[in-house]
Amino acid sequence: MSLVQEIDYGTPRSKATRQVTLTIDGQAVTVPEGTSIMRAAMELGTKIPKLCATDMLDAFGSCRLCLVEIAGRAGTPASCTTPVAAGMTVRTQTDRLKRLRRGVMELYISDHPLDCLTCSANGDCELQDMAGAVGLRDVRYGTTGEKHPNPGKDESNPYFTYDPSKCIVCSRCVRACEEVQGTFALTIAGRGFGSVVSPGMEESFLGSECVSCGACVQACPTATLNEKSVIEIGAPEHSVVTTCAYCGVGCAFKAEMRGDEVVRMIPYRDGKANRGHSCVKGRFAWGYTTHRERVLKPMIRAKVSDPWREVTWDEAIGHAAFEFKRIQATYGKGSIGGITSSRCTDEETFLVQKLIRAGFGNNNVDTCARVCHSPTGYGLSTAFGTSAGTQDFDSVEHTDVAILIGANPTDAHPVFASRLKRRLRQGARLIVIDPRAIDLVDKSPHIRAAHHLPLLPGTNVAVLTALAHVIVTEGLVDETFVRERCDLDEFQDWAAFVAEPRNSPEAVAKVSGVPAESIRQAARLYATGRNGAIYYGLGVTEHSQGSTTVMAIANLAMATGNIGRPGVGVNPLRGQNNVQGSCDMGSFPHELSGYRHISGDATRQMFEALWGVTLEKEPGLRINNMLDAAVEGSFRGIYIQGEDILQSDPDTRHVAAGLAAMDCVVVQDLFLNETANYAHVFLPGSTFLEKNGTFINAERRIQLVRKVMAPRNGYEDWQITLMLAKAMGYDMHYSHPSEIMDEIARLTPTFAGVSFKRLEELGSIQWPCNDKAPDGTPVMHINGFVRGKGKFVVTEYIPTDERTGPRFPLLLTTGRILSQYNVGAQTRRTDNVVWHAEDRLEIHPHDAELRGIRDGDWVRLASRAGETTLRALITQRVAPGVVYTTFHHPDTQANVITTDFSDWATNCPEYKVTAVQITPSNGPTKWQEDYVAQARQSRRIAPLEAAE
Ligand code: SF4
Ligand code: SF4
Ligand code: SF4
Ligand code: FES
Repeated sequence: MSLVQEIDYGTPRSKATRQVTLTIDGQAVTVPEGTSIMRAAMELGTKIPKLCATDMLDAFGSCRLCLVEIAGRAGTPASCTTPVAAGMTVRTQTDRLKRLRRGVMELYISDHPLDCLTCSANGDCELQDMAGAVGLRDVRYGTTGEKHPNPGKDESNPYFTYDPSKCIVCSRCVRACEEVQGTFALTIAGRGFGSVVSPGMEESFLGSECVSCGACVQACPTATLNEKSVIEIGAPEHSVVTTCAYCGVGCAFKAEMRGDEVVRMIPYRDGKANRGHSCVKGRFAWGYTTHRERVLKPMIRAKVSDPWREVTWDEAIGHAAFEFKRIQATYGKGSIGGITSSRCTDEETFLVQKLIRAGFGNNNVDTCARVCHSPTGYGLSTAFGTSAGTQDFDSVEHTDVAILIGANPTDAHPVFASRLKRRLRQGARLIVIDPRAIDLVDKSPHIRAAHHLPLLPGTNVAVLTALAHVIVTEGLVDETFVRERCDLDEFQDWAAFVAEPRNSPEAVAKVSGVPAESIRQAARLYATGRNGAIYYGLGVTEHSQGSTTVMAIANLAMATGNIGRPGVGVNPLRGQNNVQGSCDMGSFPHELSGYRHISGDATRQMFEALWGVTLEKEPGLRINNMLDAAVEGSFRGIYIQGEDILQSDPDTRHVAAGLAAMDCVVVQDLFLNETANYAHVFLPGSTFLEKNGTFINAERRIQLVRKVMAPRNGYEDWQITLMLAKAMGYDMHYSHPSEIMDEIARLTPTFAGVSFKRLEELGSIQWPCNDKAPDGTPVMHINGFVRGKGKFVVTEYIPTDERTGPRFPLLLTTGRILSQYNVGAQTRRTDNVVWHAEDRLEIHPHDAELRGIRDGDWVRLASRAGETTLRALITQRVAPGVVYTTFHHPDTQANVITTDFSDWATNCPEYKVTAVQITPSNGPTKWQEDYVAQARQSRRIAPLEAAE
């Protein structure tokens, strides 16, 4: 194996359609108009020397190394900044050019330490390469002295170093931070020899605005910005392209390895979701794979109060199967079930639901997507006929107006945020609908939202219907689109409903707190601003009206004709890496893969024929129903792969009671997570670096996950499910995940054309992929909706039952922060904790003052469901009356506070609205103290001698 080398064409691809032919060094080449001479030469395989150019960035023209001669033109223009012209004749290798380039390189080298042999970038340094390329042998100028200042290294960032002595001031880092990441954290300070890259005003990287995305490190042609892992481990020797296992953006990475050790993760330029960019999580936070707390041996125990006992795989699997069979024999077939994971691969998820339906003989399977995006599935399938977003991420490059509702992409979907920010800097307009002033409202450099509608949590439906009211009553409906593409009767019913005065912005202002004029202006902008796209997140779905909100979004898009072409659409930003895939694979109790109801005879019979069993016709239990049944005593065993339901599901005490009531809880995971405190069997899981398979991101993009190292626990997760199935008496035979995907393709019409071979050929595929769309479907519903006519649904606003009152006067809403991920099991075990070591409660200064709370004070956060403590962060990001927290740390237990209200259609919990009171506090609550003691007790592992 070798390092995957991507060609750097020097300047970005031109998107022009007109072609231009020119001659370079005697060879004709045809390229799109606007292409640089440097890129055109590269198309012919001619590498013009360069230092300041890279195809991730716009041409800058500062290093003067890429000079060329053009017939009929005086001088030696820079090939990176000079566009091609028809009939142009270019020469890239003349004696004059060679002499000039050597002179330029000599100046660079004279200001650079000559310690190549011991430099961490030796062999991976463009300066070194260029010195060789231009034939530089001697340097006539000195390389030391006061003209070559060395302000010393900055090692403050946990993942990379900055060594200014090696900087050639090419500005690639500064431009990467601006153009690719959009953070504008770096500048070039000083002049001449004293020029130096500076993060902010004489700050360290860690103390600056830097968000540690790594774009500058990747852009740096020297060892000035260098990954600490490269300095520690050495240069990588080979690489494997794989997919990030954190969020639903689905960034492709080259895992660069030395032996079986990961040296670094480099974002892959051919990755169609990320186009060569990354965030701090995927780029740097992979160290949890080798964290000392990772459990690598299977363990069992009779009671959760016992210490764990390490056993062989045979014993652990045999024990789990014996218990499951015993429970079924005593309490019936439906007394056990399982939960699939949105962090595992499609193939693993498919196998778990197959084991439950075919091996357990019931449909008691659910997924963590239940608690995040199940309303997306319901709402979009109702409106359009497909339970998925309509676009690809490239689509944002054509967007003129973006509505962002209930999503905070700079923290939760950072690489998409960078792509959106780039488009906004180009002039697109932004409408933010969110209780908080997220960064994109006014804190991102060069970006200011045209409108921020800071609605009260729980009033999404009212505000979206008011936007529709303006569009309908002010004659802004795209009538041609509606007439041709949608059910007209339903549209008319809906239009009459939204036009009612009670849905006007003036009426809705009273319940939502959003000024009527803001709603009116936002509606006009979206309806008339050409390509309008809506992006949304969990702030839409995790409500008692989550499904209604998704349908209200679909209504807006259809009414304005913003569906079925690049730049528009309805785009759910998925939380976990494979939420889309876990839903697609048939993880819900009522649906087989491809969202087909289990009661459909034809579909069920197809599965029965292939699987050789009779399947239950009735839907099984949802997660919350399983827990209810456990408390009642009729549900006694569960197989949980890759989920921490105790931390991620609502009403923690109820989850704990349900788990505690079961006879056999089997947890398969990387760490002894919170759920494992109640487990009897622990099966060590494998990380994304240790397995083959596929993930599906928020764009419906299926991407390969490739094994870069052997599983430290011994098995990939799909193999563990196979062992359990065999022990349960339902033997399944696969020798590689590609065979599981072949079965998925056979059974699922939208995946009919998908195979690992096709994925290798195409790089990735967006489903549907079948005979009608053999290469997949980037944009959906182009000529018609999947369901036929688009369906308008009347979206009556029904306030949540969760109300504020004298005892609980504030509304709590929750969200994520950039450096941590979900329940934090992985990111808390990396250096990302330097940015976020604890969850904090954001509170408006007015509310804090009323309660005598100062910044950093411990506060008690209490709701009708429970209470916890954490420290306060006083900020105007939240409006008076609203408080906010993240949920990344188990000792905070934010879900002790949340209620058991849920979406009417899907049971997705209402995480985003809880009435609370905040009071000063001295320390942890009784629940937190008990919890810590119980967790410590239940994580004990018996010493090996005792286990033998
Ligand atoms: S790591 Fe990213 S945010 Fe930080 S300075 Fe570099 S490019 Fe900018
Ligand atoms: S730090 Fe690297 S990328 Fe930035 S100016 Fe210096 S050499 Fe160029
Ligand atoms: S966490 Fe999301 S945005 Fe960050 S690298 Fe991974 S997939 Fe990309
Ligand atoms: S690469 Fe063209 S001027 Fe630097």
